[in-house]
Amino acid sequence: MEPVATTSQAGRRRGPLVPRGDGHVRWRAAPSPLPRLRAGHVHVWRSPLDGRGVGGPARTLSAAESLRAARFVRPADRARFVASRAFLRRVLGRYLGQPPQDVRFVSGPQGKPGVFPGGAAPALAFNLSHAGGWAVVGVARGASVGIDIEPTSAHVGLDDLAGVMSPREARAMRSCPPADQARALLILWTRKEAVVKGEGVGLGAALDRIDATRPAEGPDRVCVDGWAAPCWWLARAGPDAAHVGFLAASAPIVQVRYWDDVGRTGSRGHPRAMP
Ligand SMILES: CC(C)(COP(=O)(O)OP(=O)(O)OC[C@H]1O[C@@H](n2cnc3c(N)ncnc32)[C@H](O)[C@@H]1OP(=O)(O)O)[C@@H](O)C(=O)NCCC(=O)NCCS
Repeated sequence: MEPVATTSQAGRRRGPLVPRGDGHVRWRAAPSPLPRLRAGHVHVWRSPLDGRGVGGPARTLSAAESLRAARFVRPADRARFVASRAFLRRVLGRYLGQPPQDVRFVSGPQGKPGVFPGGAAPALAFNLSHAGGWAVVGVARGASVGIDIEPTSAHVGLDDLAGVMSPREARAMRSCPPADQARALLILWTRKEAVVKGEGVGLGAALDRIDATRPAEGPDRVCVDGWAAPCWWLARAGPDAAHVGFLAASAPIVQVRYWDDVGRTGSRGHPRAMP
């Protein structure tokens, strides 16, 4: 689908109201060591969960994660959970200079996971999303991040999102050509969920008070009154053309790098510490 575009009062074509959120980004094999994660830089990682990826030894999971894995009824769901947690630990270990099994998590008031604060400042922030056959992780320093992906096969209709759209969002979605509407809704939802996950408030938040459409001008930013982080800057994070995805960061995004998890480690047998 082409993005929904708006036209300025002067008749000039503006940016898309609902930009593409799919895999039209350039993924590269992650080098070792990684480039420095500076202020305003965001790294997005992807890993397939269908067995094509690096996988990850279940032994890198904590006791609590292993217990959670054991509760999955379907072996395929269990395998995906183990693979996504091993991937998350592997990625974070690279920034923290720790073996994956040594990464310690903390939980925010509404369950948003973070890494146990180490000595390094500014603090490392991350967020994970898994859907379809992929897991993605967004990583930044000194800013919070949220990320969400959804498969394009998910069928979303106007009625499904009626209760969670702001008036502006509802107008934008209703004005979409019917052929484009399902995808526009999916993109809108993914943008909104990335922002909600960034703030860590969960889907119990007043979602209809969030306007996740792209501003007609200026940076792609979503602001929400009363939140700890009042504005969120968005970037694409779809792992492939069959998924839409967005990352939201609580500070302006200067650069996004997209890394494929190829499981490379530093010379000491565990990931090299990131500056
Ligand atoms: C977080 C949440 C939005 C995830 O939605 P989802 O589309 O099912 O899942 P995704 O794959 O995108 O993200 C899952 C990951 O998000 C992370 N996560 C969990 N809670 C989170 C939160 N509050 N904020 C941000 N990220 C969170 C975890 O890493 C999780 O990975 P896991 O499944 O391996 O544990 C949803 O589960 C939620 O709203 N949780 C909070 C509960 C809540 O709302 N509590 C208030 C009571 S109303």
